[in-house]
Parts: sequence; structure tokens; C-alpha cells
Amino acid sequence: MARVKKWKRPWRQWLKLADLPFTPVDYAERLLAWYGQAGRDLPWRNTRDPYRIWLSEVMLQQTTVTAVIGYYQRFLQQLPTVGLLAAASLEDVIDLWAGLGYYSRARNLHAAAKMVVEQFKGRFPEEVESLQKLPGIGRSTAGAISALAFDLRAPILDGNVRRVLCRLFALQEPPRSASAEKQLWQWSEKLTPTERVHDYTQAIMDLGAMVCVPRKPLCSECPLAEFCQAHKFGLELELPLKQVAKQIPTRYEVALLIDHQDQYLVRRRVADGFLGGLWEFPTISLTEGEDPEKKLPLLLSDFGLKGDAEKIGSIQHIYSHFRLKSIVYCKKMEHFPNVSAGDNCWFSLDKLKNIALHGAHKKVLDKLLNNGV
Ligand code: ADE
Repeated sequence: MARVKKWKRPWRQWLKLADLPFTPVDYAERLLAWYGQAGRDLPWRNTRDPYRIWLSEVMLQQTTVTAVIGYYQRFLQQLPTVGLLAAASLEDVIDLWAGLGYYSRARNLHAAAKMVVEQFKGRFPEEVESLQKLPGIGRSTAGAISALAFDLRAPILDGNVRRVLCRLFALQEPPRSASAEKQLWQWSEKLTPTERVHDYTQAIMDLGAMVCVPRKPLCSECPLAEFCQAHKFGLELELPLKQVAKQIPTRYEVALLIDHQDQYLVRRRVADGFLGGLWEFPTISLTEGEDPEKKLPLLLSDFGLKGDAEKIGSIQHIYSHFRLKSIVYCKKMEHFPNVSAGDNCWFSLDKLKNIALHGAHKKVLDKLLNNGV
């Protein structure tokens, strides 16, 4: 259940756009003037190529600009067109994504490239409705592509814009609630200008990223401060309201590091399942409260192994719909273990640092690196 703080609401009357003491035109003019002075020069801003814009928008979902730039450039060097992306193997795409995290983005990107080639003859659709049919493109990403690549009047509502609007209108609901969502889209729609949509879209993203930041917003530098209801009522630090984390179940597993002369055994998960195409150490699942030492022999026997393994700790990782607890063991091998080639690979620690291990097993690797087993 979302927690809603009860505010006294003297500004309630400002919540309707029609009542606001600014017009969308004044608002857009101020924002665009500010963007002209302070906007960032980012690699995906010098292009109108929808492929490049789409790639940047997908990479920027859940990831900072600083982290994305290198990946964006490397990806485009390897796969400069949607046709080449569609023709690449999923494994190659995942490997180019290694380290960026949230790998479902890479899988969706690959699937969407195939759809663009097969269903749209390699040309990106321009309209939000069509873009949204592609895997991994939600309403806001579709709006961003439509606005940035085609200059169409399409609203967006990414994390930055959501925060700006929550403050601008002093929204008093958790911003992910259904009614807040509806209200925020309406505001975003009304405030999106009919001209210079490309620049406007970059401008509002930049305002959220550089000025209207989560913890210490720089209101003295904000071109919209005079219009901002949160600023007017001293609520900039309180808004947006916090969302309470949802309850999720916990799953348990044993993860096994098989070490043969500083090479470790890993395998790729099947391409079409959960975390498909990502690398992992061998595991066996546990029920809650089950003794990992009792399950370990079964896991060892999969690799023709017996005897003790050293416990090196445990890790926890949260996925969107469950929490994973992994108890980590290491088995050092003198002789080459009897492992059928199959999908298993042996990698050095240096190589392991650079492959697309899924999030939980990245933490397993960190455990190994910190333990110095
Ligand atoms: N975040 C999402 N899209 C962005 C963009 N085009 N520029 C900067 N930050 C972003």
C-alpha cells in the first residue's frame, strides 16, 4: 500500500492547469531559453537517426548519462544500423551490453530490431502508437523517439520529467499511483509545445537531470522557479512523495564456484527464459530453511565432483518480482573436472569481470574477489 502523507492543501486550487499563473507558451519559452544556455551536448543529440535515438533512450532507461556514453559509442561502432543489429546473434548483443545491467533491455532491443526489419522494412515508425508495439518501448520512450527523431508533438514522462511535474504542480500523491500517473500524463501533454518539440524534450530532461534533481534541487538556477508550486510552498524537498516498496517473495539457491587453476566454470542461461543469454555460475535451488550443505553434494555430482567445498559467504539480490539469496561455495580442483563441454566455459577472473553475469552472480563474483579464495 502506498503511503500518502496528508498535507494541508492551500495550493489545491492550482492543480488545474487552466488556473495556473503561467501559460504553456511562457513555460516553454523559459525552458527553451534556459536550454539554449545550459543544455548538455550529448552524443545522441547531434543526430535525428531514429536508430541512434532509440538506442540512447533504451540505454538511458535506469542508467545515468555518464555510464551510458561509452556503451553507446561502442555499440554503434559494432552495430551501426538496425539491419546489422537484427542480423546479430542475441549472445553478441548481450556481450556488447555486458556491465550496463537490466539485460532485458538488450533482449528487447534485439527483438525490436528484428520487427523493424521484418514488419517495417527497416524504417522506424514515427507515431507513438506504432513505436509502442515494439518490445521494450513504453509510452515515454515512444514519445521521446517520436519527438527527438521526428519532431512530432509527443509527450514524455520519464523519471526526470515526472519529478519536475510533481514539483511544478505540487502533486500530493505518490507519483506512481494510477491517478497520479493519469494526471502527470495530462500535464505533460498540455505542456508539450507544438514547435521545437525536439529541443523542448531535451530541455525538460536536462532540467530534471541538472536543476530539479532529487535531493537538493537548485531552485535559484531554475527557469521555472517562479511558476513552481512546490517552490512557492517550500515543498521542493518533500515532493515527489515517496513510494513504499512492494512486498516480494524470497528464493534461495546454492551457487558453486568451481576453480581449476584460477579458471572458473560458468554457463550461459537459455536465450528465451528469465535472464536469457546471461552468464551464471552453477546453482541448485533451495527451499526456505533447507540446509545448503545437504544440497551441495547433488550440485557437485552434476560435475562428477565429491567431497567438501568451502563456504565463502552469501549474497542477496533484488529482481523486480523476487529477492534471491545465494549461499556461495567454492570447490578447488587439482585435476581437470569431468565436465562435458556443453554450454560450460572456463574463464579467468579478469574475463569474468567483463562478461554479462546476471546481477546476483555479479555479487557472487564480488564475494569471490573480496574473499581472495
Ligand atoms: N534520459 C533519457 N533520455 C535522455 C536524453 N535524450 N538525454 C539525456 N538524458 C536522458
